[in-house]
Amino acid sequence: MEERLRHVARGPFHVAPIFVESASGAWVTDVDGNRLLDFASGIGVVNVGHCPPEVVSQINAQSSRFLHTSFNVLPYEGYVRVAQKLNEKTPGKFPKKTFLANSGAEAVENAVKIARSFTGRESIICFDHAFHGRTYMALSLTAKEKPYKQGFAPYCEGVFRSPFPYAYRWPGAGAESDVSVECFEAFRKSVGNAGGANKIAAVIIEPVLGEGGFVPAPKEFLSLLHGYCSENGIVLIADEIQTGFGRTGTFFACEQLDFTPDILISAKGIAGGLPLSAVTGRAEIMDAPGEGAIGGTFGGNPVACAAALAVFSILEKSLLSHSREIGTALEARMKTWPELSPHIGDVRGIGPMRAIELVADRKTKEPHPELTKKIIHYCCERGVILMSAGSYGNVVRFLFPLTVKMDELNEGLKIIDSSLSSLK
Ligand SMILES: Cc1ncc(COP(=O)(O)O)c(C=O)c1O
Repeated sequence: MEERLRHVARGPFHVAPIFVESASGAWVTDVDGNRLLDFASGIGVVNVGHCPPEVVSQINAQSSRFLHTSFNVLPYEGYVRVAQKLNEKTPGKFPKKTFLANSGAEAVENAVKIARSFTGRESIICFDHAFHGRTYMALSLTAKEKPYKQGFAPYCEGVFRSPFPYAYRWPGAGAESDVSVECFEAFRKSVGNAGGANKIAAVIIEPVLGEGGFVPAPKEFLSLLHGYCSENGIVLIADEIQTGFGRTGTFFACEQLDFTPDILISAKGIAGGLPLSAVTGRAEIMDAPGEGAIGGTFGGNPVACAAALAVFSILEKSLLSHSREIGTALEARMKTWPELSPHIGDVRGIGPMRAIELVADRKTKEPHPELTKKIIHYCCERGVILMSAGSYGNVVRFLFPLTVKMDELNEGLKIIDSSLSSLK
């Protein structure tokens, strides 16, 4: 760690000061030989577990054929097959096309470029609590000031923010439909601030907030948003970077929310840990930028594409049903937690993508980030890696590999149980 501090910039944070030697399934082994249960999955990436043999063998096979040509110099089949799979698996029966990039943020950038090119409009509406990445447009769309935005202004022009339907923290929260209707009214005001509907190129939303604290958007709100965007020629973009590839129990969260965006962005879990991201959308929208207008040296790397095809096949075989089973088990266990700790304000999520929101007092809902840190530290000391989330740093989120076995899940949950009952 001393060497890390000497040679590496201060900026990249670590959940725990643990150097990794190897990883397999849901387990990580550190350089001292300690084994830890990984309930963070490298920020929701190794959905198929660490180093599944099917993925590793495809990586090995592809790396002995060729590592790189750049799709912009010489194309190869793997890129096309990944695009074909995404066109099939993303919601919507219309003709689709896909563009591949390297990171989530890069996919967000490209989705915005494509929407602006298609509509000839400039404004983009995003939401409170959103996280879309750290490059300049993605950062401009991201909501949280500290640590992401502080000191990095000025941001991109043409970005307008609207409230997210965060039921637990909605003022005077009543029935879910009230939140949806009131939040949609607020959205219409944001459209006014952005210069009116005919100035708006795109609306970008996470169907379930990721870094924002695992808050699912209600179906009714998404449906109102969809209706408005299609009536007004606005490109509706779903950021499924954290929710995709089985994280919520279906291929994409949109499926469970009856939500069909015009463009869906994916990354993280797509290639089992190799860097790859995608923008998938209506063919006529995706084809708006002309030849050479979008691209990059590394986007859709052949080794990452080979890994992605193996990930698709693991998900198709049995992983989605297992993911739903562990989601159901986790949901049942989490229902018992409010009795263990008076600080649990909200318990929420979809499928296995679940989280708890910690508060100092259930009545005032004052966020409790200190307790959140203590829980994560306590669990880490006992061998379970967890991550926080939320605009107030008071959410503990569960991002285990979806291949986690029921006994491994229970082993981790036991430690979380004891953290909740012993820490105040
Ligand atoms: C919803 C969402 N969008 C975008 C990003 C940015 O992805 P990346 O870190 O690969 O640039 C993230 C990363 O956490 C994310 O969760």
